Formats: sequence, C-alpha cells, structure tokens
Amino acid sequence: MRVLLTADPGLEDVVLQELKDRGLSGEARPFGYPGLVLAEAPEAGPLFRLRSVHHVVRFLGEARLGGKALLDALEALRPFEIPGLGPETSFAVRVYRRGAHDFQSPELERAFGALLVDRYRAPVNLTEPDLLVRVDLFEDALFLGLQLSRRALSLRYPKVYAPPAALKTSVAYGLLRLLGAEEGGRLLDAFTGSGTLAIEAAQAFSLSEIVAVDKNPRAVAGAEQNAAAAGVSGKIRFLVGDSRRLPAIFEENRFELVIANPPYGKRLGRSENLFRLYSDFLESAKAVVAPGGRLGLLILKRGWLDRILRRVGGWTLVHRRVLEIGGLYPGFFVLRRNRDVRS
Ligand SMILES: C[S@@+](CC[C@H](N)C(=O)[O-])C[C@H]1O[C@@H](n2cnc3c(N)ncnc32)[C@H](O)[C@@H]1O
Repeated sequence: MRVLLTADPGLEDVVLQELKDRGLSGEARPFGYPGLVLAEAPEAGPLFRLRSVHHVVRFLGEARLGGKALLDALEALRPFEIPGLGPETSFAVRVYRRGAHDFQSPELERAFGALLVDRYRAPVNLTEPDLLVRVDLFEDALFLGLQLSRRALSLRYPKVYAPPAALKTSVAYGLLRLLGAEEGGRLLDAFTGSGTLAIEAAQAFSLSEIVAVDKNPRAVAGAEQNAAAAGVSGKIRFLVGDSRRLPAIFEENRFELVIANPPYGKRLGRSENLFRLYSDFLESAKAVVAPGGRLGLLILKRGWLDRILRRVGGWTLVHRRVLEIGGLYPGFFVLRRNRDVRS
C-alpha cells in the first residue's frame, strides 16, 4: 500500500533512513511538500514504530489545484472515492494547509465533509470518527488520505514537565540520528530542559552511558519525572550544572557524543549574552569530548556558527542543515572534536 508519513520539515531524510532500516523506501517532499514522505509498504503495522514520524496516512490520491479558491480545492477533491465510507461509517475531515489560499482550513473541512455526506450518506463524527479523512494542501498540491494513526506517534509518553521550549520526540530522534547515536558511546545532553533528547537517546539507541545536565534545578527535577514516565529513569544520570564549565563537572575525554539545544534567546536579554553562552559552552566542551567525538548543536542564530568556531577553535564542522520547528528556522550543526588536542 502507498502511505503518506508526516514528519518534521528538514528531517524527511531521517524518515527515509528509518524506512531503509526496515527494507522499505520512500520519496521525501513529494511535490516539494515540506514534512511529508510518500512510501510504499506491504502493511501499515511496522510503520507505527517509526520514531521520526507523526502520522501514518493511507494514501488515496494527489491532485493539482486550478486556483486558490475554495471551489478549486473542492473540484480537485471531487473525483476521489473514499473506500469504506457509507451510512454505517462515521467520518471527519481534517485539512492541513500551507501556502496562500483564499480560504481557511475549516471552510474546506466543512465543504468537503458536506460533499461526502451527500455522496455516501455517512454520518459526521468530529470526536471519534470511524474514518479520518485527511487532506494535505501545499500551495497548489493536494494529497488525500485516510489517517490511520489517531494520536501522533511522537507523543510517546506523558510529559509531566513540558516547558514551552521542549522539543518534539521526533525532532530529538532526528538530531540524535544525524549526530550518529546509533554508533554508540557515552552521551551528554548539555542543556537537557525537560529531558527530551536524553530520554529519546535512552529509548532509541544503545549507548553505554547517558548524562543530562541543566543549570536549572526545576528543569532537572522535571526531566527526571519525564524519564520516569517514559520508563527510562535507570538509564540516565541527571545533574544540575553549568555547561559553560563542563571541566568542573567531568574529567577529560569523558564523552564521545554531546547533544545541545541551548536557549534560542527568546527569553534571554541581550543577544551578545547568547553569543557568549554558545562560545563558552563549545570552549568548555573541548575538554570533555574525546578526540574524534561529535557534538550536535541546535541554534536559531545560524549565522553565528562560523564566527564562534573561529573564535573557539578545536572543532571541525561536519554537517549543517536548516530545520523548521514551530515556525522558526534553527540550524543544526554537527561538529567533530579535532584529534590534535592542542587546537
Ligand atoms: C531550549 S531549552 C532545552 C529544551 C530541551 N531540549 C527540551 O526538549 O526540553 C534550554 C535549556 O538550557 C538550560 N540552560 C541555560 N543555560 C545553561 C547553562 N549555562 N548550563 C546548563 N543549562 C543551561 C535552560 O535552563 C533550559 O532548560
């Protein structure tokens, strides 16, 4: 069957890697649609275990819109049949829209819903439908499907502590995969916040050790509660500490892997402080990362990285990319600790 997998924009290739692990393949960004992967799979079951995916959608068809009006979208949807829909089967329509259109998503949900009621005599049930008809609209590209997952797969455990800056588990998986966590080693999550990265690392990868640090004791207590809710308490050591002063906490060459999601600066004062925080962190990490070890850094101020690296020295940039997270476009950088420890 053909399936649409919804993912985080900028991490679609991680979905392809996960598919490949299972002997499957897919196409990232069909029609250029960010955050979608179109895949072929003999059955849907194994897809529910993908960690980089939010929803699994049975693909019913694709179309191009003739214009930006509601009627153009309805005309594009009209030719498709919805298998299984009938008087005994309730349904709801959900529209996910990106780009410029002359209508809002709820208008298309109502109009397409009315068309389906008319055609199939099927009852609408917005809270617990038997079938969830999903329309993804990106500029003039339209995808129609039946959403098979009800809750997002990325909601893996109840977050007891959920600060606004917390990452999605799927993003955490993607970043760890880009860092190379599947190769194993000792990992430090240097700005753990609610613990998403450390918990994902504990659930998804076989690492010899995971340590999570945050300077805020409330965050550390919350992250510990989240780890307990996720069933991985015993796999992570949580510490209150300052990641600008890592050599004061850890001995030399203590980690092969570091993952860092420091503050973006949304709630910090002046941006120079942030530049200083990132520089001081990378300087202090030099001592605790073994030569050849890797550090993954997610920051909003992408343009700063080259300047910070020149200033700090000792790191080589091995990978960079831009993600889209909650309407922001942070950069993710993977740095390798130079083998010449004097640099
Ligand atoms: C963007 S949040 C991390 C979010 C986290 N990835 C999550 O999913 O919840 C940044 C965290 O860095 C912590 N922090 C700020 N400065 C720090 C420092 N010098 N050392 C350690 N942690 C710090 C903050 O307390 C905050 O919890």
